Amino acid sequence: MAGVPLSSSTFRKVCILIMVLGAIQLLYILYHEETWSILPFLNSTRVPGNSSTTSETVIHRAIVSTEKNLEICPETPPHLVGPMNINFTHPIQLEIMQKDNSEVVEGGRWWPRDCIARQKVAVIIPFRHREFHLKYWLYYLHPILQRQQLDYGIYVINQYGETTFNRGKLMNVGYAEARKQYDYGCFVFSDVDIIPMDDRNFYKCYSQPRHLSVAIDKFGFRLPYMQIFGGVTALSLEQFTKINGYPNNYWGWGGEDDDVSQRVSMRGMSISRPDGQTGRCRMIKHHSEAHNEPNPKRFDNLRLTGQTINSDGLSSLQYRVISVEKNPLYTNVTVDIGSP
Ligand SMILES: *[C@@H]1O[C@H](CO)[C@@H](O)[C@H](O)[C@H]1NC(C)=O
Ligand SMILES: *[C@@H]1O[C@H](CO)[C@@H](O)[C@H](O)[C@H]1NC(C)=O
Ligand SMILES: *[C@@H]1O[C@H](CO)[C@@H](O)[C@H](O)[C@H]1NC(C)=O
Ligand SMILES: *[C@@H]1O[C@H](CO)[C@@H](O)[C@H](O)[C@H]1NC(C)=O
Repeated sequence: MAGVPLSSSTFRKVCILIMVLGAIQLLYILYHEETWSILPFLNSTRVPGNSSTTSETVIHRAIVSTEKNLEICPETPPHLVGPMNINFTHPIQLEIMQKDNSEVVEGGRWWPRDCIARQKVAVIIPFRHREFHLKYWLYYLHPILQRQQLDYGIYVINQYGETTFNRGKLMNVGYAEARKQYDYGCFVFSDVDIIPMDDRNFYKCYSQPRHLSVAIDKFGFRLPYMQIFGGVTALSLEQFTKINGYPNNYWGWGGEDDDVSQRVSMRGMSISRPDGQTGRCRMIKHHSEAHNEPNPKRFDNLRLTGQTINSDGLSSLQYRVISVEKNPLYTNVTVDIGSP
């Protein structure tokens, strides 16, 4: 039995329709980001740690969602060890450290491979001439941050030249430069010489700005004063922009941390802390360094925070990047921040 004969023009229309539908589907597949990573010719773009924020985010998500059906990491990370033995007596060998951190990619970036991290954290370290301390910091902190299952990156902000050190301004630069690299939502600001002694002291953000280094060995494991906000702190993107970041005008040692503490309370927030046991830290001993003498103006500056919070900070930040080097265990941002 012959079917109804198809006229040749109807047949052509059907063919065109099928081709158009096919093309639409192909375009959809190509456009839909989550399928990118299964296309082998795009392998070369799948390098996390590259400078383009959006492409890295897209690629990262594509890897996560296609290769495995991953879930959000548990509220309490499963591999924490609690109190740790921290000492600075044994020599640190960079090669061994790199082998032990083989999952850390260029620039000091890491994220959990078996679940989706709850927070994207940039750790900012203001820096100059402290290579000895940095080695210990990297040696201890990389494994801790991994056990805490954070999607993190390490940014060493190296002040260029020999003018007076400015910790606050380096923090602001770290925030700005890290944001160019990835869509971080949390910023941990840490001195290079402070190591937590308990990995339940999370390097992440909370509903209020966090002070992490609450019980340092050097100060007899006690909080020196209630409003202290130095050492190691964590602020979310929202919290940090709300206070307009750190002040840029504290040159030399001291004051900028108390200024930020005031900014936090002026914006109606309060400081959160771990308990005194979990919050124990060790400070690597050192002699006070050249070009970081106590800032004689710090008390005058502090009285003016009320007037300067809006005018001095992220809103007035100016600097010149000298270089951005992606080392295996950290990103080294060398920056000219001028002089007093
Ligand atoms: C893409 O990556 C996979 C594994 O990651 C590898 O087996 C494959 O050879 C790569 N393809 C190309 C074209 O580089
Ligand atoms: C990042 O990717 C761009 C191309 O998208 C490339 O030109 C650049 O060299 C890459 N940078 C690094 C640090 O890999
Ligand atoms: C110092 O720490 C290292 C590793 O963190 C450990 O292997 C060593 O036993 C510790 N030394 C002392 C004296 O506690
Ligand atoms: C960072 O880069 C600068 C410029 O290349 C270099 O002088 C400095 O030693 C580097 N510091 C670290 C800690 O890698």
